[in-house]
Amino acid sequence: MTELQEQIAKRRTFAIISHPDAGKTTLTEKLLLFGGAIQLAGTVKGRKAARHATSDWMALEKERGISVTSSVMQFEYGGAVVNLLDTPGHEDFSEDTYRTLTAVDSALMVIDVAKGVEERTIKLMEVCRLRDTPILTFINKLDREGHDLIEVLDEIEQILKIQCAPITWPIGMGRRFKGVYDRRTGCTHLFSAQHGGRVIEGEVIKGLDNPRLDEVLGEQADELRAELELVEGASHAFDLDAYLAGRQTPVFFGSAINNFGVRELLDAFVQYAPPPRPRMARQRRVTPDEPAFTGFVFKIQANMDPAHRDRIAFVRVCSGSYQKGMRLRHVRIGKTIQVANAITFQADERRHVEEAWPGDIIGLHNHGTIQIGDTFTEGEDLKYEGIPYFAPELFRRIVLKNPLRMKALHKGVIQLAEEGATQSFRPLKNNDLILGAVGMLQFEVAAYRLRSEYGVEAAVEPVSIKTARWIQCTDPRVLERFKEKCFEYLALDGDDHLVYLAPSLVNLSLAEERWPEVRFLATREL
Ligand code: G4P
Repeated sequence: MTELQEQIAKRRTFAIISHPDAGKTTLTEKLLLFGGAIQLAGTVKGRKAARHATSDWMALEKERGISVTSSVMQFEYGGAVVNLLDTPGHEDFSEDTYRTLTAVDSALMVIDVAKGVEERTIKLMEVCRLRDTPILTFINKLDREGHDLIEVLDEIEQILKIQCAPITWPIGMGRRFKGVYDRRTGCTHLFSAQHGGRVIEGEVIKGLDNPRLDEVLGEQADELRAELELVEGASHAFDLDAYLAGRQTPVFFGSAINNFGVRELLDAFVQYAPPPRPRMARQRRVTPDEPAFTGFVFKIQANMDPAHRDRIAFVRVCSGSYQKGMRLRHVRIGKTIQVANAITFQADERRHVEEAWPGDIIGLHNHGTIQIGDTFTEGEDLKYEGIPYFAPELFRRIVLKNPLRMKALHKGVIQLAEEGATQSFRPLKNNDLILGAVGMLQFEVAAYRLRSEYGVEAAVEPVSIKTARWIQCTDPRVLERFKEKCFEYLALDGDDHLVYLAPSLVNLSLAEERWPEVRFLATREL
């Protein structure tokens, strides 16, 4: 095996998908704890607070009590190098989350046992399904009373359309929660309430018929045996291929806050979750063990650290390796750049990397030339596909308080658009500047950042636009006529693509009927 193949085999790059409050942050913290990336649990939140305190625009997050940033954390566990890509929890930032999901090899779904399958989880699952991303499931908060577990599994199967294969099974729930039984090993791991901040191993009892089980669990031992029989009949046996194909999810139970069931989850994760796999580019399929570096940008983030007033482009390495100082081709603009100072995010600390392998994320300093979806190579003209832009559902006109700041406004709006936070549109018929977003909060963030980072006082006001569609037409004559007739509804987006801004859905469907040769697209793939 070459070093490249060895490094690939070790990599596990994933994201956590869940509905807010299911326990994603808590679980992240515990995973980092096992990974040795942090000393004590609690640091994730502490670190969040520190970030808030040092960054101006994140003060907004603090005011609103939400987390809108996402970061990358790398840690080692059980011989694997794990990259965890955090995703913003707030639904207004879902585009960011969707794009992050294009950069992972698998996902971990967290479900609150008392809530079952929730709306955000359903949406995120749909996105995972686009690429058949393998999904592991953690059912959380077993220390509280929840739904009947068989029903929860049923709900996952019915609503999310994925088979469940319970790997562990909990002993009791709420106050009667005693531990988990591992169906693979036949071992019972007993819960001890002091699991708290430190990693303490509870007692492990081998074998379901072990009398020690009856001794510590009393009547719950027989309950467990009976339940396991039921589970055997009512659920699917674990099938690695079905998991890797995205058809089946192995299920684990536990309590993130008590650090229980998390180790079993992490052990199985490094054992089963896939290393980087081949990926489609427009020109061809690229396998990770090709020696030449390739990667794509899935996210751009501003001012993570006010000491570095720059923007970082997050690049997912897809093949080959990054070596410090190497020259990379920025395919879209056709330029080669020397990358001396890419960074990684080991438990969120900025460090300069010497090398990075497929599955890793590197951060490139971006001075305005890098956009989401850009591909970097060692020279080949290659373009990774499938990173979506979604038609915004909300629109606002930006009104400048001081007209002399127009240039700064444009600069700010363009940069916000490059980060994928908001999209900008310039109608053909006038000099308006329209912002589009998928959530209201994004407008607030935009106005806040324009003020704090670009010194632009701007207000956003409602505008009568209901939805947007990107226009495609292969016949230039039809396109010309279309542009003439629909002039008042047309605009250019940040990349100068033609967009139809419809004042109503009726208007849109009439236009679609009238112009059968014109395609009205709700997503634009980068
Ligand atoms: P999120 O990132 O998915 O939004 O969820 P987060 O981890 O912030 O957890 C949401 C709430 O659920 C938190 O409580 C957290 O302490 C709690 N929680 C997480 N895991 C468990 C668990 O295993 N059992 C129980 N009983 N609760 C759990 P909070 O009151 O909103 O916040 P905090 O004051 O505890 O930080």
